[in-house]
Amino acid sequence: MNTIILGIESSCDDTSAAVLCDGFILSNVIASQKVHEAYGGVVPELASRAHQQNIIPVVHEAMHQAGINVKDINAVAFTRGPGLTGSLLVGTSFAKGFAIANQIPLIDVNHLQAHVLANFIKEPEMQNRQPSFPFLTLLVSGGNSQIILVSDYLKMEIIGQTIDDAAGEAFDKCAKVMGLPYPGGPVIDKLAKNGNPNRFTFAKPNIPDFNYSFSGLKTSFLYFLRDQLKENTDFINKNINDLAASLQKTIVDILLDKLKKAAKQTGIKQIAIGGGVSANSGLQKAIYEEAEKADWEVFIPRIGYSLDNAGMVAVTGYYKYLAGDFVGLDALTFARTTLD
Ligand code: KG4
Repeated sequence: MNTIILGIESSCDDTSAAVLCDGFILSNVIASQKVHEAYGGVVPELASRAHQQNIIPVVHEAMHQAGINVKDINAVAFTRGPGLTGSLLVGTSFAKGFAIANQIPLIDVNHLQAHVLANFIKEPEMQNRQPSFPFLTLLVSGGNSQIILVSDYLKMEIIGQTIDDAAGEAFDKCAKVMGLPYPGGPVIDKLAKNGNPNRFTFAKPNIPDFNYSFSGLKTSFLYFLRDQLKENTDFINKNINDLAASLQKTIVDILLDKLKKAAKQTGIKQIAIGGGVSANSGLQKAIYEEAEKADWEVFIPRIGYSLDNAGMVAVTGYYKYLAGDFVGLDALTFARTTLD
């Protein structure tokens, strides 16, 4: 008999539902919230309201695209945390209601674990390369920057993480300072393609172990622009491509530095990346270049599975279903970053 999992993701500003059958993705519907663009960042209260509006149509569309109906679903998996509490509550409440109404098991999913397991989503009629255990994941998104040591599907440990801002936040906040639209990461990536990455240099952190810090870079970037604008009010417009390229290079160097250190110390050569920032072309290029030198095997989920999406929640739910790992209706959301 097939195992069909409905996955629900609502941790930040994407409402998503996916259907997975025996590890193969049948649908992965994502409703991104445009409402935040005007504010230059996610507004939590608006995010939870938009989730409430989106959740039912998104689930309906995911089931329609998968060609299944409710009776076919064996379990519902939902993102329990970390994330914005108001946003998480919408997906969690929906999943609980769905589980009661259909008398199926409820599976809680850690958002970080889901990003890691996005590498195991299988697509029908595709090659479906997958990392073997143990492997390292560099998880870089708007809310996370971690290096995770993955020993098995459900056994993973954060060995390094940001002590302040996430890498995506650094992209987005620096983009905002330059007057670019939100989210700034993809815009910077595009501009950087026509810029000189060595034109400007910005502060890099000096943090022990495998941890990251991006708040110093943000401040250094802000002060640099403030000083330049005093001399030339058109400085940003005139240098936008070089600014984007130099900023991107700095962020990528910071990320690669600790990843290389972690790979060297653990002796692990299977390297995966995930989270929205993994779409960055500079980061991907740098990782593939390092892979050549250090003999790494690199895994990057397709963009639809790297950004926040329910496919990764469904695949995590699938492995938890196989392990009989369910939760009760009393499962509460959590906001903080943890893999426990
Ligand atoms: O994983 P994700 O969809 O969700 C959150 O964590 O919210 O990641 C979104 C983040 C944003 O900060 C966005 O600017 C960044 O990923 N991002 C990128 C690129 N595409 C998305 N950053 C740099 N380059 C990109 N191509």
